[in-house]
Amino acid sequence: MPNATYTFPHNFLWGTATASHQVEGNNLYSDWWHWEQQPGKIKEGHTSGLACDWWGGRYLEDFDRMVAGSQNAHRLSVEWARIEPTPAFWDEDALDQYRQMLLALKARNIQPMVTLCHYCHPQWFLEMGGWQNPQSVAQFERYARKVVNTLGDLCDCWLTLNEPNAYVFQAYMDGNFPPGKKDMNAAFEVGTNLFRAHVSAYHAIHNLQPGAQVGWALYVLLLDPANPASWFDQQVTDQQHRLFNDAWPSGYVTGEYQTLLKAIPVPQAKGALDWVGLNYYQRQLVRFNPLQPTHLFGERFSHPQDEKSETNFISIHPQGLLRVIKWGAQLGLPMYITENGVEDSTDRIRPRFLAQHLRALWLACMQNYDVRGYFHWTLVDNFEWERGWTQRFGLYALDTATQTRTARPSAHMYAKICRENALSSAVVAEYAPEVLAQLFP
Ligand code: FCB
Repeated sequence: MPNATYTFPHNFLWGTATASHQVEGNNLYSDWWHWEQQPGKIKEGHTSGLACDWWGGRYLEDFDRMVAGSQNAHRLSVEWARIEPTPAFWDEDALDQYRQMLLALKARNIQPMVTLCHYCHPQWFLEMGGWQNPQSVAQFERYARKVVNTLGDLCDCWLTLNEPNAYVFQAYMDGNFPPGKKDMNAAFEVGTNLFRAHVSAYHAIHNLQPGAQVGWALYVLLLDPANPASWFDQQVTDQQHRLFNDAWPSGYVTGEYQTLLKAIPVPQAKGALDWVGLNYYQRQLVRFNPLQPTHLFGERFSHPQDEKSETNFISIHPQGLLRVIKWGAQLGLPMYITENGVEDSTDRIRPRFLAQHLRALWLACMQNYDVRGYFHWTLVDNFEWERGWTQRFGLYALDTATQTRTARPSAHMYAKICRENALSSAVVAEYAPEVLAQLFP
């Protein structure tokens, strides 16, 4: 039996990540609420409903779960549609509820990271053209200012936009998210405005709070050519990587946002980032396919050797996390793993998923990559967008009818890891013995 401990750096942040629409419930003025009411948009006709009832006050018991789980940080989002339910009308009660939430985290010694926009917008914003409207950049900046002015005494770590790259894809190419378009031109237009929106919010936040730490979180899709010896596979892989993963980080260096055919100058983007948020779930292979122009002639699929998650949503490739961190390090900024997790209602896969990914993360730390924290997706089963309640990502299972939470074994496992600031062979032997020999050779 091996006996070893992989210890993480001092002051490492351990937590979970959540998003307002997915946990709060009754998010009535949002584009997602409207979208969910339309037939055929969400799997099995599910709706977010009460979600995890955080808006009804159950955030308190979940914050207690974070404490019981020895977590010292939490990534949560505030909801634009609640704070500004009609243009330029600020709902001070909603802001006050967020104040109470941040105070409750503070009272528990849990450091907040606050996302300003996690996939969800006010319905009025969408009706005015959403991110296709050139005014969207100023509208977002106005909202960011209001939030930072009101809550800045309780938080200095801000995440402007969650996964703008995945959002563009889902909302303007695949059409799974509101407004449900399939229009490549619109997608690049929206991508550019999102990029500009981050940049102007970044400067506005620093103006109000000079010590603020402002970042974004990208969905980093690790891509490998299906046949490494094929020039065509390599070309389409590089092209998808360049547009999907690289456009945001390189824009920060060059001051230009890269679209398909041209680079759009956004000079103020240079340096407009204090840290990098990496959401890592999976890798995919890319094969040249002349019949797929809307996917830039690259067809994506899973590597046959990568394990699939419960609903085939994720092709699990834990070593990829180290590669993603090396890629993120090109900016020379601190990094956070702002999301990583797997849907697994029976907790058959999650314990080894955690162990394998945290081993890769530890290796990155030992190689001196500046990763400052890990936020597991997620604490309690939540509303998973167009997949509704069919996917269970929680360390805790949720019974939506009664709002009862039940700890999965992974909750206990993650608590030990957070408490010890380490991944030990003892924990892996207890919760994921099948990977013990692989992780502790
Ligand atoms: C990420 C989203 C998050 C959640 C997980 C499973 O891409 O940011 O809201 O849905 O996937």
